[in-house]
Amino acid sequence: MEKKQQIVMSGIRPTGFLHLGNYFGALRNYVRMQDEFECYFMVADLHSLTTHPDTKQLKANVHRVLAENIASGIDPDKAALYCQSHIYETNELYLILNMLAYKGELEKTTTFKDKVRLQPENVNAGLLTYPVLQAADILLHRASLVPVGKDQEQHLEMARNFAKRFNHRYGEVFPEPQAFNYGLELIKVPSLDGSGKMSKSENQNATLYLADDDDTIVNKIKKAKTDSGPATPNAEKPDYIQNIFQLMRLVSSEEVIAKFEADFNSCNIRYGDMKKQLAEDMVAFIRPIREKVNAILSDEKYLAGIMELGAEKARKSAKATMEIVRESIGLKYY
Ligand code: TRP
Repeated sequence: MEKKQQIVMSGIRPTGFLHLGNYFGALRNYVRMQDEFECYFMVADLHSLTTHPDTKQLKANVHRVLAENIASGIDPDKAALYCQSHIYETNELYLILNMLAYKGELEKTTTFKDKVRLQPENVNAGLLTYPVLQAADILLHRASLVPVGKDQEQHLEMARNFAKRFNHRYGEVFPEPQAFNYGLELIKVPSLDGSGKMSKSENQNATLYLADDDDTIVNKIKKAKTDSGPATPNAEKPDYIQNIFQLMRLVSSEEVIAKFEADFNSCNIRYGDMKKQLAEDMVAFIRPIREKVNAILSDEKYLAGIMELGAEKARKSAKATMEIVRESIGLKYY
């Protein structure tokens, strides 16, 4: 397929197992993008050092994220799938952008303030300049489209500011990166306890992970909150019931969903049956992904090859950008 000019870049921190929210909120869109754009998908291993200085699990976590991305449909031959730490040019751009980032704006960043509260004993400079490193990841490929969720909007706004300041001072080099999800409302994947979304860290029993085995999936769904059913026909659904229907819409067939909608509206719904059906469909959805992840993880040679290939593609783009950056700044003396 003919690739468009625009470049897509996104990163994911290797700090936990991917869950259904990551899959439907992000990965599924990445898979579509890799056919339409030049894509750079990165494992943000250096970013993870700002909050996870203990690296005993790092290798396993990096391997897992890569495997989960590939098993979800990212094709290393189409997109550049790589590790942040393999691209040394990132560090140089990070340093340069640090001269264009102000202490005041960094201290005001919401994620920084949150992390200061969470780890007051380790408020390191990397934490403060986290958004600068993220901007370097993006601008390194002169990417203009960044598929991320709402929680990353402030970081993206900062990346735009750094790009603008650079361009203003040294000449037009960087496009201003924008959040991009095909203009679609991002799919929210509700947690199983009726409150909020599925999450990497909060309430693991209410979150379905791509790594969960069949029994775990069934048991988590079994425990999802329900009640004794509606008392009047065509009642409004309480949030936690709405959530079960929403999960069904992600993995079940039209007929199944229509049946339970009709049962609900006629006050004949049996939530035990509904959850059993949802569990069955969820297992059928997650199992092949999980098995693929495990197959990939058992093949270290393959993983090494993937990382090499991704790094090669990312380096090529990074080197080209840094030539222009050095030239524009005037770091050329002969
Ligand atoms: N900060 C992002 C997160 O927490 C991860 C990330 C690192 C990223 N570098 C990036 C996202 C570049 C988009 C683009 O999820």
